[in-house]
Amino acid sequence: MGEVITRVVAIDPTRPDPAAIAEAAALICAGQLVAFPTETVYGLGADGLNPIALGRIYTVKGRPPDNPLILHIASLEQLPLVADIPEMAHRLVQAFWPGPLTLILPRTSCVPDLATAGLTTVAVRMPDHHVALALIDAVERPVAAPSANRSGLPSPTTAQHVFNDLRGRIPLILDAGSSRIGLESTVLDATCLPPVILRPGGICREAIEAVVGPLQEIASVAQQRRSPGTRYRHYSPKARVLLVEDSQAEALQAAVANALQQSARVGCLLHRLKPDHLPALVAITRIRGSVADYAQGLFAALRALDGLGLEVIVVEGVEEQGLGVAVMDRLRRAASPSSPPEVT
Ligand code: TXA
Ligand code: MG
Repeated sequence: MGEVITRVVAIDPTRPDPAAIAEAAALICAGQLVAFPTETVYGLGADGLNPIALGRIYTVKGRPPDNPLILHIASLEQLPLVADIPEMAHRLVQAFWPGPLTLILPRTSCVPDLATAGLTTVAVRMPDHHVALALIDAVERPVAAPSANRSGLPSPTTAQHVFNDLRGRIPLILDAGSSRIGLESTVLDATCLPPVILRPGGICREAIEAVVGPLQEIASVAQQRRSPGTRYRHYSPKARVLLVEDSQAEALQAAVANALQQSARVGCLLHRLKPDHLPALVAITRIRGSVADYAQGLFAALRALDGLGLEVIVVEGVEEQGLGVAVMDRLRRAASPSSPPEVT
């Protein structure tokens, strides 16, 4: 892979400059990659119907080839081109698009194998961001986009995160500021009845169930394997992450004491707990507010703490309901001790 100069171009999140959009679209149409903002995290965009461009995504990210991509669309007219649409999916689309819900649907023959990693299904979503929608519109076809991080690192929620990970590897990053949601979309398999959440994300289970009734639980490992991305250790800083599952001051103090026995380079990420009664640490970051605020700042905080060269980051967990399910999913992945054996 040759080095390219990576330009970062600021773009208004609500009224994107048509010239900047046209330039980004021209690069994508020419088979190049462009990082762009969505409401969840920044995406690494390629022409979703061009196998050569799709291949570049895997190379640039260092992504395992069996982990399929999400196709992003800007209008419902683009959906039948790439997927068959069961009745249930119509209702979900009506309720949640544009928005952070990715639907797994039966694919059409238009979709290159590289977009689906050879599966008979395809992941599709319509992002809720003016820049993303304008870009896809200008490309005039679905845009494949994984999160724009190097594989294994936390997803990028700012253009600076993308630049840190992909500098020299892609020609253009559109910078529209921090991502509004800060966690990836919910991935919902709508090829089965009832549908099943393969990856919790920006739309919570309760909201989906209000539209289509009770969802299926991920029953078996076999089903889990249908979302290949969830197999890999993910979202992980270089430092070891110690997750304090429940938000109790005593549990936090015990975890910090335990970490300090292993290393002097300990940092801490807090949400509801105050840093009172903690010993002096290299860094203590606190994201106050609601669980949505915690979600929004989580990946940026993990990246910032990791930038301090810590050995251990002690992280406060949240209650597993609503958006808290997605937050805990990401934190557990960040905290998992090592890559599962199937990753080589
Ligand atoms: O919010 C998001 O979803 C962001 C923004 C950029 O849209 N994108 C994103 O993409 O998180 P990525 O590639 O990092 O995650 C896509 C997830 C992976 O877990 C992948 O395994 C799953 O979707 N996926 C894609 N196609 C699938 C399919 N056909 N069946 C099951 N899972 C699929
Ligand atoms: Mg990702």
